[in-house]
Amino acid sequence: MEIIHVAAECYPVAKAGGLGDVVGSLPKYQAELGHVAKVVMPMYRTKFLYTHQWELVHEGSQYLGSHWFHYSVIKEKTNKLGFDLYLIDINGLLDREKIYGYDDDTERFIAFQIAFCDWISRWSHLPDVIHCHDHHTGLIPFMMKHCYAFRFKLANIPSVFTVHNGQYQGWIGWDKYYYIPGYDSWNWGLLDWNNTINPMASAVKCAWKVTTVSHSYLDELKHSANGLENLFEYEKGKSIGVLNGIDTEVWDPQTDSFLIKNYDKELVDKGKKKNKKEICGQFGLDEDKPLIAFIGRLVGEKAADLLPEAISQSIYQHHGKANFLVLGSGEPYLEEQLDHMKHQFNGYFNSYIGYSEPLSHMIYAGSDFLLMPSRVEPCGLNQMYALRYGTVPMVRSVGGLKDTIRDFGDKEGFGIRFDQPSVGDITYSVGRALDLYNNKQDLYQWMRGYMMTIDHSWDSSAQQYIDLYQSLKN
Ligand code: ADP
Ligand code: GLC
Repeated sequence: MEIIHVAAECYPVAKAGGLGDVVGSLPKYQAELGHVAKVVMPMYRTKFLYTHQWELVHEGSQYLGSHWFHYSVIKEKTNKLGFDLYLIDINGLLDREKIYGYDDDTERFIAFQIAFCDWISRWSHLPDVIHCHDHHTGLIPFMMKHCYAFRFKLANIPSVFTVHNGQYQGWIGWDKYYYIPGYDSWNWGLLDWNNTINPMASAVKCAWKVTTVSHSYLDELKHSANGLENLFEYEKGKSIGVLNGIDTEVWDPQTDSFLIKNYDKELVDKGKKKNKKEICGQFGLDEDKPLIAFIGRLVGEKAADLLPEAISQSIYQHHGKANFLVLGSGEPYLEEQLDHMKHQFNGYFNSYIGYSEPLSHMIYAGSDFLLMPSRVEPCGLNQMYALRYGTVPMVRSVGGLKDTIRDFGDKEGFGIRFDQPSVGDITYSVGRALDLYNNKQDLYQWMRGYMMTIDHSWDSSAQQYIDLYQSLKN
């Protein structure tokens, strides 16, 4: 099959979170299964662009409202990512350093989607499926089916839309209706939700199939979807949950080039010790105490607002027996608070405010526990990376965390789970972590024999997507 993934992120080209990890790995595993997998994304000015070689494969022009824009499509020459990578360049709109966060993000991503549809509609053959990821590509299923410029060529290509995060929907005021290429006006309802153009809602309505990145998240969306609950309930017949996998080549403690010391499950105690020593040295923490880390976006969804209080309470209540480290960026007030706290809790807590791929790998390897108190977690990849690096996940029972982590108190459990995103539940779980850590020999036995052997690679989920695409062909 020929599969085209369209997304705003793809690791290692451009990544802001788990979306990038998924789009950088799922196509690789699909290609390994013998399919032609392609990724199409905007051309940002990232390091990857300047360190790779490109060939021009297409040039075209289209309208964004009354603005006539030119675009070009370039392809990475070596195919070293394991799939075909195409970047769409639109001068002045997409070619920026950051992925998101500009005032004209609406214009940028609509223009990207128009250019994408325009380019595909000029192909001499048609791909078997177009797989769109999150709201930045959410208008594509509508455009393929209903826009005059594209529908004759694209309407019969199956489209799949994956909801990675239903909180962000890409809302566009109807005053910008003219950006969307011409369509029969009675179809406006397929773009609308609550008097706003809603790309996420439109994709759920128009895509042939909708997937979410875990089974539990699909259920949760029917009750909590930032206003789209009824829609997810209504479209449940065409929706399924497919659990994300991880790229076990990129995330492998045996070969990870970001680590000070590589290790496998047999050497997990020694390997982690070396990496921990390095991290603790760097952040002024005590390597003999258990290290509990948080890596992620500092936003309400991740319950990052609870971290300052939960960490200080844990330090007081457990008499400073555990150390804490936070790597993240997000809400400015939280960044400030966490930055400030490192002076207050010098020797017990430290933080790195910002984004650092190398440091994240070192923290997965050098920590003993990884805390994820999320209020919403569609899948979550961090807990799977933690398992692979012999770091015990401490997760709130929600979404993908619930689907991937079993509490060690339960049969065949391998993590710490708690029910509420609250300071009390986190502090209590820190106590459980301390108990586990005090029994280190058992902990390592359990890591070797179980935790680090769990297979979260894409093998089975990549095939599930293929089966889903096949079902749309008949
Ligand atoms: P989300 O996509 O909601 O942010 P995921 O758990 O799916 O959450 O994926 C997060 C990804 O982003 C992981 O690869 C994680 O290591 C990475 N990440 C998050 N914050 C940072 C950061 N500040 N520095 C480096 N990597 C980060
Ligand atoms: C989103 C979700 C996260 C998920 C990731 C990849 O960013 O918040 O839970 O793991 O997408 O699907």
